[in-house]
Amino acid sequence: MIAALRERVRERAPNLSTAAWLYLFLRAQQRRYARAGADPRPPRELVEASPNGAVLRLRDHELADLRFQLGELAASQKLDEIAAFLDRVAAIRPRAVCEIGSAAGGTLYLLTRVAADDAVLVSIDVDLPAHVAAARRRLARADQRVVGIQGDSHAPATVDRLRAALAGRPLDVLFIDGDHSYAGVRGDWERYAPLVRPGGVIGLHDVHEDYTTSRGAVTAAISGDVPRFWRELGAGLRTEELVADPEQDGYGIGVVYP
Ligand SMILES: C[S@@+](CC[C@H](N)C(=O)[O-])C[C@H]1O[C@@H](n2cnc3c(N)ncnc32)[C@H](O)[C@@H]1O
Repeated sequence: MIAALRERVRERAPNLSTAAWLYLFLRAQQRRYARAGADPRPPRELVEASPNGAVLRLRDHELADLRFQLGELAASQKLDEIAAFLDRVAAIRPRAVCEIGSAAGGTLYLLTRVAADDAVLVSIDVDLPAHVAAARRRLARADQRVVGIQGDSHAPATVDRLRAALAGRPLDVLFIDGDHSYAGVRGDWERYAPLVRPGGVIGLHDVHEDYTTSRGAVTAAISGDVPRFWRELGAGLRTEELVADPEQDGYGIGVVYP
């Protein structure tokens, strides 16, 4: 009897120690996310551009070595452009924010820095597994709530889930950076822009043409059809264009003031 019990413990010990290691590892990750969430510094002090200028990485918080597909917390943004956009967002101290296209979570994190202490921030992405959404909930600052929605932004069910998260509030800020095809960005505009209140702020990322379109060169930038949609959208709206360098390959934030 005792020998059989000993044998069973011996068999299961490796599984138990793996489970314990995984638990402790995930707890440590959660604590690191929570520390980044509690960091009071302004956006410009929290991130730095990668050497090739393609992405913004988080400073100091050691979120770069996360495993299990959490990946690195980063934003595909030009620092001067997103910082200028965040200044406009901060000026209205939004309580309801939505971004379409979370990718590596960097823009969501930056938005939490400038939203109101009690804001709800909804991040929509077709690829946002539950464990990633759970980690990103911890990026919330003060009494904020971060809600991740995994779904196609064009699906009516996704819009319904956003409305449920907002519980009747209009959006103060919308950042569109999802599907960059013409139908895709147009669909996001038509579905989500009407949810933003007058006096709010809407950002569209990648309004500047990439070299693939402007120079016939294949590069990593992917503005897609957003610049064309942006040019058409301008008429009749109060807009502003944030582009760090007119010669750059893609990027650029188009701002609309509804
Ligand atoms: C350019 S990345 C977003 C970058 C991010 N905002 C940043 O600056 O770091 C585009 C993201 O949109 C998501 N996406 C593309 N089409 C989508 C759709 N129809 N619905 C929801 N998300 C979509 C992709 O999965 C991807 O993560």
